[in-house]
This record gives sequence, C-alpha cells and structure tokens, in this order.
Amino acid sequence: MKNKSRRTFLQQSAIAGLGTVLSSSFAPSLFARTSNFNSVPAILGGATKFDIPKWVKWPIWLPEQDEKRLLEVMRSGVWSRASVVTEFEKEWAKTLDVKRCLTVVNGTNALIAALNQLNIRGGDEVLVTPYTFIATIQAILANGSMPVFVDVEPQTFQMDPAKIEARITNNTRASMPVHILGLPCDMDRIMAIAKKHNLIVLEDACQAPLAEVNHRKVGTIGDAGCFSFQNSKNIAIGEGGAIVSNNDTFMDKCYSYHNLGLPYGSAAGSINVGSFMQASKVRLSEYQAAIGLAQLKRLEEQTTTRNINAAYLSSLIKNIPGITPYKLYDNVTRAAFHLFPFRYNKNEFKGLSRTGFIKALLAEGIPASGGYTTLNTQPFIKETFESKNYKKMYSKKQLDYAAYMENNQCPLNDVMCTEAVWFTQNLLLGSKADMDYIFTAMQNIQKNAAQISKTVDK
Ligand SMILES: Cc1ncc(COP(=O)(O)O)c(C=O)c1O
Repeated sequence: MKNKSRRTFLQQSAIAGLGTVLSSSFAPSLFARTSNFNSVPAILGGATKFDIPKWVKWPIWLPEQDEKRLLEVMRSGVWSRASVVTEFEKEWAKTLDVKRCLTVVNGTNALIAALNQLNIRGGDEVLVTPYTFIATIQAILANGSMPVFVDVEPQTFQMDPAKIEARITNNTRASMPVHILGLPCDMDRIMAIAKKHNLIVLEDACQAPLAEVNHRKVGTIGDAGCFSFQNSKNIAIGEGGAIVSNNDTFMDKCYSYHNLGLPYGSAAGSINVGSFMQASKVRLSEYQAAIGLAQLKRLEEQTTTRNINAAYLSSLIKNIPGITPYKLYDNVTRAAFHLFPFRYNKNEFKGLSRTGFIKALLAEGIPASGGYTTLNTQPFIKETFESKNYKKMYSKKQLDYAAYMENNQCPLNDVMCTEAVWFTQNLLLGSKADMDYIFTAMQNIQKNAAQISKTVDK
C-alpha cells in the first residue's frame, strides 16, 4: 500500500512537472500501454491498462516556479484586493486584447454583476441556451430577469442562431451566448441578430479562455464577457471570475458594484467617501491573484496542446460508427476545449446504453461523463416564479409555469443531453499515444458492446 501511494505520488509529480514542457508538438507517451483492439475490455475482466491517476493531474501546480509569488503575498499580510489583483486584471485584459478586466469572487458573480450593470433586471427577457452550467441561468434569475431558451445545434453543442429570432419579443433585452465546453458560438450570426434587434450581448465565456472567432477572443466580441477560474477550469484558481469589456463606463460601474458601491478609484474598503449605488462586495483576494498569475503563464501552451490533441482524437473517433465528435463553426479560429464532447448513438453499439459505455470507458481508466441535464426543465425556475419578488415584477400570465414550459421546450437539446459524452480538458494535455489509447479502447468497447451491455445494462 505504502509503495503504491509512493508510486502514484511520483507519477503525479512527474506529470505535474510536465506542465511547462507540454508543447505544441505532442508530449512523448509517458506510460507503456498495451491497449489492443483485440484485448478483453476491462469491464469484462480484462486488465486495466491506464489508471486514472496517470492522466495529467489538474490543476497543475509547480512549487519551484509558482510558490515564490504566493509566499510573498502571504508573508506581506496584504491579502485583500490590492496590487496583485490589479496586475492579474491587467495581464488578463492584455492577453485577451480588451481594454478592461475586473476580477470577482467567481464566474457566477461575474455574470450576476455584469447583467446587473448592463441593467438587465425585472421584466427583461434574456435569450440563452439550455445547454449550459446552471450558473448562467441562476445569474439571469438573480437579477429578476426571465430566461428564454433557444434550442441548440446538436452538431456544435451551441445555441442555434437560426432559432434566435423566433424567440424575440418586445421584452427581449439581451442575448447571452455561452461558449459551452470551450467551443465558440457562432458570434457572427449572434452579433448580427443582436444588432438588428438592438439587444445587449453578454458572453458567458467561463469555459472558453483563449477561444477565438475570426481571431478575436471570445468574451471580447459582445458588450461584455465573463470568465471563471474555478478549480476545474482551464485557468484554475479554486474560485475566481472576471468581467471584461471595452466600455469604460460599464466597467467603472462594475468596479463599484464589486466594492460596495464605492466610486471607482476609491481605496478598497474605504467607507468615508460614500457609496453612490446599491451594490455587493465580491472582490478577489491577493493570494488568489498570485495563483492566477502562475496559471496564466501556462495557458497559451496548454491551449495549443489541447487544440492539437482534440483535432487528432476527433479525426480518429469520427471513424467509429455511432460516434459523432463536436463540429466547430467555420469562423472559429481556436477553441479552448474545457471539455471534449461527442455524441454517442447506442444503436451502433448493439444497444449498449450511454451509461454502460461510460462505465466501460471508466474501467479502461478513461474518465468520461454524460454532461448536462436539461436546464430548462429544472425545478428552480418554477420555485423562482413562485417567489415574492417575481410575483411583484411579473403578471400572473407571465408566471404561468405550464405555459412557460410549453414555450421553452428544446427538443433537440433534450435528445443531445441523452447522447453527449465528455472528456475533461486534462486528458487533452496527454500525448498523441494517449489519444490513440482512447481511440483503441472505444473501438474495443464497440467490438464487445453486446457482451458489455449484457453485463452492465441489466
Ligand atoms: C458556462 C459557465 N457559466 C458560469 C459558470 C460559473 O462559474 P463559477 O463556478 O466560477 O461560479 C461556470 C463554471 O462553473 C460555467 O461553466
């Protein structure tokens, strides 16, 4: 046992150390593996060849180069927002080629603050995809607005631009493209529709740092964009978020919002200048910014590696009947690949359920999941409609939940949610041989699908 944990520790340290050297060319294969198209799948009792700890451990932390700055911050005793947070904001704005960046406690509060300061409030409708993390919808509801769901394009996993206009009403104020999974939305079409109907565009780029449309970074194309630095994200701080925009007036207001309504530029925490607006307090800490600065140093290289591995893996698995990898829009010049998604058709796998397929992948040591459920049908929306605030802001007709549900059906998303399979971004930091391993394991599962189904789909 002792030996095993030491071995695991050494393996993880070795991989963590690789973080800096993973480059645009494929990293060498780290582990001898014998996966073979004709071997017995692990779920049927074959040997597991690739333990989960052997994938790149996330988040990556390199003590020698990452800890100096963090320790300086800790020893300074200045832990609340000060110069390191400002430095991180400048660095992130520069990286995205956007005028301003404001950090906040997390992506959820970045969205809440941005919507609030874009004045999207009670009575306003916001166009949004049902295929997103719950925080996107919670941010709309937190401001008293109404989410209006636009069904997806299953090929791209994104909000379908062709379905947006039919969802616009006199109350529509904003469009909220979510670059979900780190794959960019079709911003050309979304922006054109927004312009035509005079809509505000807030990009939820929480999963998509460094993704691009027409060589412009997502999050900087609409009126404002939001990012998340939560633990699993491509920039991992544990918790953290940011709002970016080229609009100074809006960003000044966001700054005030995140700092108790105090005028922008006043010393953080000062109480004698007087708050001029109703606000919150959602500031990032200095030590979080120090962690963020360390992570930013690796992001460019990691993003390149993820793109190369994703393209390669996609080119392999698209040849497996029943597997349909994501499609990128033609105007996408780079994706972030927070996740690597594909759709799974069990009919091509002898009826093996998606759950069974995922279990078989896990048995091979390949972490996978089925992703999101249908957000438009979740009970929290009904609960919000029944709240005191919503009853004061909306008419009885507007809060008719049955009618809302009827209006907000997203049949393509319903199906997509039953078909999607995800790999997390750290798998894409592996080697070319690792991608080959995933492909071979998937082929092997297909070959043995009937037997696996009998075992796991009882
Ligand atoms: C699409 C999307 N929006 C918003 C959020 C919220 O970010 P956070 O977890 O930092 O609050 C997340 C992250 O989890 C996300 O994936």
